Amino acid sequence: MSVHATSRHVTVSTLRRMKAEGEKIACLTAYDASFAAVLDEAGVDVMLVGDSLGMVVQGRETTVPVTVDDIVYHSRAVASRCRRALLMADMPFMSYTSTEQAMASAARLMQEGGAQMVKLEGDARQVEVVSKLAEHGVPVCAHIGLQPQLVHKLGGYRVQGRDPEQAEAMIRDAVALQQAGADVLLLECVPARLADEITAALEIPVIGIGASAGCDGQILVLQDILGITPGRAPGFVRNFMEGQASIQDAVRAYVAAVRTGDFPAPSNLFE
Ligand code: KIV
Repeated sequence: MSVHATSRHVTVSTLRRMKAEGEKIACLTAYDASFAAVLDEAGVDVMLVGDSLGMVVQGRETTVPVTVDDIVYHSRAVASRCRRALLMADMPFMSYTSTEQAMASAARLMQEGGAQMVKLEGDARQVEVVSKLAEHGVPVCAHIGLQPQLVHKLGGYRVQGRDPEQAEAMIRDAVALQQAGADVLLLECVPARLADEITAALEIPVIGIGASAGCDGQILVLQDILGITPGRAPGFVRNFMEGQASIQDAVRAYVAAVRTGDFPAPSNLFE
């Protein structure tokens, strides 16, 4: 199987086609030009300038302090070497508290940062924001399940949707966000069966992180797959540097493992 899904530029239509044809979507975070070039060459389909940069680049405790300026700065760097992949950028904490503010933040990420899709955390309470962005031609990825921007409210990073009522609500939220115009759904840290149910219920591609091998694609933080994140890696991470001679080979191995369904393994998932 080819590592490159297609050599043409990846768009929202490419991702939809990949879902329809059962071809897995390989996504990774990227924060600078050098790594963007490596990821692009390896055939990564979507590069995310995630607010995880607060933790892995800036050394903060959480993603909460990250600003729109930070994301714009890193997106611009990634955009300079991102030729094939679709470039997604995170809307930081408190940058989409109203439709007006969300439009202004998304405009900056796309016009100054070169992003081709924005990602925002939130359940059905974000329907109005998603709908407004979609109406104005902004491709949107809605991030549900564990929402790291809510860490101080949740009191930690925990699997979401284990409780049957919470699971039902998550399915309803996913459908509502798709109806509002979301182009992609990202599911973080949810039980695999729930992730499968949501993936089957939606027409838009569903990307998982600690979700299910049945999702339409997978995403991880770059530093995690390279095994350089300090401390103990979360269970949903695999170190792809092991057994590889170079960073390039490790990223290629990640893409291949996502495409073939070798990653995630049951040990990377939750019940
Ligand atoms: O900020 C980020 O990198 C993310 C991924 C972990 C999905 O949201």
